[in-house]
Amino acid sequence: MQKNLTSKLPKAPLPVQAPKKQARSTAPVPQVPLKPFLKWPGGKRWLIEDHRDLLPKRINGRYIEPFLGSGAVFFHLRPREAILSDINSELIEAYSAVKRAHRAIVARLSVHHVQHSIDPERYYDVRSEIPATANDRAARMLYLNRTCFNGIYRVNQKGEFNVPRGSKTKVLMPEDMWPEWSKALRNAQLRNSDFEPIIDTARQGDFLFVDPPYTVHHNMNGFIKYNEVMFSWDDQIRLAKAMDRARKRGVRILMTNANHESVRSLYGKGFKQATVSRFSSVSGKSEGRSSFEELVITI
Ligand SMILES: C[S@@+](CC[C@H](N)C(=O)[O-])C[C@H]1O[C@@H](n2cnc3c(N)ncnc32)[C@H](O)[C@@H]1O
Repeated sequence: MQKNLTSKLPKAPLPVQAPKKQARSTAPVPQVPLKPFLKWPGGKRWLIEDHRDLLPKRINGRYIEPFLGSGAVFFHLRPREAILSDINSELIEAYSAVKRAHRAIVARLSVHHVQHSIDPERYYDVRSEIPATANDRAARMLYLNRTCFNGIYRVNQKGEFNVPRGSKTKVLMPEDMWPEWSKALRNAQLRNSDFEPIIDTARQGDFLFVDPPYTVHHNMNGFIKYNEVMFSWDDQIRLAKAMDRARKRGVRILMTNANHESVRSLYGKGFKQATVSRFSSVSGKSEGRSSFEELVITI
């Protein structure tokens, strides 16, 4: 239940001019949704398309997203004030460049676009070299994301991107909205961080959208195994504790996670749980699409 705070506010002086604009905290979310500029594993486009009712109509405080990826929900909502964070430094560097210098990025992508259309194998040359400047690194990241196999992001043990080339031939697309993407990011603080300190900055009235990698707890033959090295079961427990602290501070929360009993068991008292279905393309199978259930947690 949201408290009505207006009775505690000091009385306004008599108006001598036109009334001031509405305070930022009561402004509605602008209705000019955008699609992400990245293709990202676990992207939440399906949530926006099929379950829009789960998203807030209005955000009183800040929008905070600690597992940013392609930021599908952020670009859809276009909040006035946001903190966007991810542990992937290349990803955050690309966002910063789009925010700060989208024209310079498009100029570099145009070069990649032409060269890729002449010789797609050049993908492997670009993949093997890390450029010296931030704008060149961001353009490389975007080029690889747009031409790699299925938009997958995967690195080897040395941290080198190792996804093979995909079948896409275009780097720049007619539907690209670089100035709009840059504008949407103008009021966003970008952070390259683990999720925990980001969740801990959320306060009453903020809206937290949390979409972690879907790790579950397996117990096979008496041994506990983790299905992912990158985001361990310990991270899921750490996340649940951070979420509980945020809930107690009065933060609004929407989380998507794996619909698995191990994950469900982490969100008891104070959290609401529901399942939503999404369709997923299964490549190479004639049936084409299967339905998956995902867990949605709110307070
Ligand atoms: C499922 S994706 C988020 C997808 C995003 N909602 C979208 O629409 O594209 C999960 C993200 O969490 C990030 N991540 C993994 N471990 C993390 C950690 N410990 N702290 C913060 N981010 C992390 C990954 O880099 C990845 O971008």
